[in-house]
Amino acid sequence: MRIETFRYTERLGAVLLRDIQKIIELDSGIDIQENDEARGVCKVSEATIHEMQRKMVIVIPIRNEKIRLFENCISGVPHECLKIIVSNSDTEPINRFELEKETLQQFCEFSKRRAIIVHQKNPIISKALQEAGYVDLLDEEGIVRDGKAEGMIIGILLTKLLNKEYLGFIDADNYFPGTVLEYARAYAAGLYMAKYEQCMVRILWRYKPKIHEQGLYFKRWGRVSEITNRCLNSLISYVSGFETDVIKTGNAGEHAMALSLAEALPYASGYAIEPQELLSLFEEYGDIPHLGTHKNGFKGIEILQIETRNPHLHENKGQEHINKMLVSSLGSIYHSDVCPEETKNLILEELQRQGLLKLGDEPPRPKLISAPQTVDFEKFANIVGDNLDKFLIR
Ligand code: GDD
Ligand code: MG
Repeated sequence: MRIETFRYTERLGAVLLRDIQKIIELDSGIDIQENDEARGVCKVSEATIHEMQRKMVIVIPIRNEKIRLFENCISGVPHECLKIIVSNSDTEPINRFELEKETLQQFCEFSKRRAIIVHQKNPIISKALQEAGYVDLLDEEGIVRDGKAEGMIIGILLTKLLNKEYLGFIDADNYFPGTVLEYARAYAAGLYMAKYEQCMVRILWRYKPKIHEQGLYFKRWGRVSEITNRCLNSLISYVSGFETDVIKTGNAGEHAMALSLAEALPYASGYAIEPQELLSLFEEYGDIPHLGTHKNGFKGIEILQIETRNPHLHENKGQEHINKMLVSSLGSIYHSDVCPEETKNLILEELQRQGLLKLGDEPPRPKLISAPQTVDFEKFANIVGDNLDKFLIR
């Protein structure tokens, strides 16, 4: 794979935000020679990509998606990556979770692979989280709450239990298996290119096609992403005093991390999780004067943003869903300790303009979830480890 090397970096304390890197060539051949590249180009060999993928888990959060789309998604994950599916699908009147399990089972049989599939509300998982003291994920009855973030965090804990070094998230509602393959390759290449151990790769889709009266229109920005990015850039600009547009992946559902970073991040519930990851980094390592925090002694924490070649086509879930996502994304920015007044005003104006917030109101504060490393992992590992066979497909 050939990717642009990073040229421009925005720094906020220990957090290094690399500007977009485009994929030049999806497959760069079998020649392993890597030091005669054109300026500004990095070649990551097939062997390196596969080595990285062998250390990587792909976590697929799923809730009531068309089974055909789920099948698309799993067929695009490269062979070397271990798949962990965390489902919150209905079990009645139709047991959709069983359908997902059956689909995965057949896939694993024919592709000679193993995978993990677990329901988010499985009592074993809830009990293990309770014992570990991870109450942030649980409802009043002690069962894991609904939410994509909740599923993703279970995926992080399972990645640690299985001793993998990296994990990447890929949504299950994807129409094109080829894009899934591209995400996993970009994760491997990006995490390999990163200079620091604590690193993250966030994907920017090249286009998001829409159907218009005249035919297909290849839209560049998602409706929520465009606004979230603007608000995050406003926040960085006012904190640093220098205007920037470095953030292009504020809502990136498709992203990958070193486990060491995934464990250390505080998260937010539901769809606020992706912007919150960046905010948590700014809050804890951004060297923000009024917070006085730079907890890791300025070892870098690196965020790469990689732009794919394939357009992304997923399920259209309607305007109400989009509105909910926008309110929770902007709510996470608004309530962050690092958010300056100027950015707060921008958020209020945007939500009022869209009719999503009344004058004088504030967006709701998303529920925060403490970092996985703050809980008693041994207890979680003992309970889930003893029951791993129930979740394993071979
Ligand atoms: N385990 C689990 N639990 N998975 C869930 C849940 C849940 O409660 N809710 C949704 N999911 C799964 C979906 O089935 C899908 O695979 C994935 O999470 C993303 O959810 P979508 O509902 O498809 O979200 P979206 O497509 O509108 O938004 C995606 O892209 C955004 C960026 O444009 C998400 O990944 C967002 O988080 C992201 O910001
Ligand atoms: Mg989707």
